[in-house]
Amino acid sequence: MSLIEVKDLEVHYPIRSGFWNRVTDEVLAVDGISLDIEAGETYGLVGESGSGKSTTGKSIVGLEKPTKGQILYKGKDITKPRNRHELDYNQDVQMIFQDSLSSLNPRKRIEDIIAEPLRNFAHLSKDDEKLRVLQLLDIVGLDADALYKYPHQFSGGQRQRIGVARAVATNPKLIVADEPVSALDLSVQAQVLNFMKKIQRDFGVSYLFISHDLGVVRHMCDNIAIMHRGRIVEIGTRDDIYNHPMHIYTKRLLSAIPETSVEHREEAREHREAVEKEFQENQDRYYDKDGKVLPLIAVTDTHKVAMPQDEVDELQREDD
Ligand SMILES: Nc1ncnc2c1ncn2[C@@H]1O[C@H](COP(=O)(O)OP(=O)(O)O)[C@@H](O)[C@H]1O
Ligand SMILES: [Mg+2]
Repeated sequence: MSLIEVKDLEVHYPIRSGFWNRVTDEVLAVDGISLDIEAGETYGLVGESGSGKSTTGKSIVGLEKPTKGQILYKGKDITKPRNRHELDYNQDVQMIFQDSLSSLNPRKRIEDIIAEPLRNFAHLSKDDEKLRVLQLLDIVGLDADALYKYPHQFSGGQRQRIGVARAVATNPKLIVADEPVSALDLSVQAQVLNFMKKIQRDFGVSYLFISHDLGVVRHMCDNIAIMHRGRIVEIGTRDDIYNHPMHIYTKRLLSAIPETSVEHREEAREHREAVEKEFQENQDRYYDKDGKVLPLIAVTDTHKVAMPQDEVDELQREDD
């Protein structure tokens, strides 16, 4: 059994307008997605801004109420608050946000910020609590003098590490990390990602790693789902997505990975332009007449893509 099974998840937001503020339409933020997260793995959820990634993440931690579908944990549907309570779900599943300056309370000291989940769930003595907080700071490479400081006294990278320390405080099974390094410089990104990987090795936690950038998740993820317009356009292992991408939208995201070596920059730009041209010319073959993402078709046991069967066959013929 997978750690988490998301089944046909839909989250619609009402759009209100007019004098009576009536519901006149809805945003299909998440429009029917399914994925399974295994214990100890990193699952990548990737797509451009507005594709429904955060809404999916928030539904999984129980911060957003789905319109439809199920999220199973230990065989129970945690979209029902009663089941979340019964399973201690809020202890087992934690979230890290992109913007640590707004997600960490600016008026609280680091000691209290990191201890907060412990106070909710662990009920330790004062001394044990302090020991645990010191241990957590050490895990993310921060000194003991951080205890008495406030969030604004740290750099962005240090604050993300504090967010990681708080998220792992209760020994969760899953951490939903929503664009955890997107606001950081490249060198600092690598540092935070390394701490996250180390924590995974030491504690066996799973991550749902949300990013708009396929470059960032390349070395993190075991499996990846590519989201567009509230649906999954392609899903597979890291090898499926990076080495055998099939959907035109996945190819476009891959071509958008920033090229770090100066020598290849020109080449990368040309490639990006070619992919963009192909996207503009052929994208309607990959979406229905209303622009909706097509149903997923299995290409292999691990790899699924949202395109017509005859296009899949054609691409596979070209491959042989
Ligand atoms: N609380 C909300 N009310 C109405 N629309 C929302 C709300 N949250 C998100 N949306 C809309 O849902 C869509 C998906 O948003 P989101 O899940 O934040 O995407 P992503 O994280 O991929 O950028 C967007 O069109 C966004 O504007
Ligand atoms: Mg988001």
